[in-house]
Amino acid sequence: MQTPAGPPTEVSLGAIPAGATVQIALSVNGVPRRVLVEPRVTLLDALRERMGLTGTKKGCDRGECGACTVLADGERIKSCLTLAVMRQGSEITTVEGLARDGELHPVQEAFIRHDAFQCGGCTPGQIMSAVACIREGHARSDDEVREWMSGNLCRCAAYQNIVAAVRDASREMGA
Ligand code: FES
Ligand code: FES
Repeated sequence: MQTPAGPPTEVSLGAIPAGATVQIALSVNGVPRRVLVEPRVTLLDALRERMGLTGTKKGCDRGECGACTVLADGERIKSCLTLAVMRQGSEITTVEGLARDGELHPVQEAFIRHDAFQCGGCTPGQIMSAVACIREGHARSDDEVREWMSGNLCRCAAYQNIVAAVRDASREMGA
């Protein structure tokens, strides 16, 4: 059974029968999006499989690696641990939404400059986490970056370059 299309209504999880779909309305990278999802669908799967935004990566799918990090209302979250219905009305930013007018975000440029990725599997999550880390004021020293980016794992062990990139971008952004 599907919820008829129309203005999104407030989601009450207790009121949704098993197997039903719910329409959620989000702003994704500044674009209003509506998507029908079952209540069990994660934000990660809604982004990748329902909206075709595959920049956000699925690593562990259980909250351990940070590959799926996106910004929700400006805060970094692990989208594999977040149900899409919980984000009704939120502003979501994925790695696809960072560049402006064809110009890469300073964090993206710094990652390239510092060769801060190898396989790239963790990179979108690292970049989104770094954007928030800098905004939070938690990128004022290498140690601080290591501490506040510790939820983002890199199996290629590009950590040294990642820290250098985050510090460099932080200086460039005047944070
Ligand atoms: S895929 Fe979400 S934390 Fe690993
Ligand atoms: S660059 Fe390969 S996992 Fe980080």
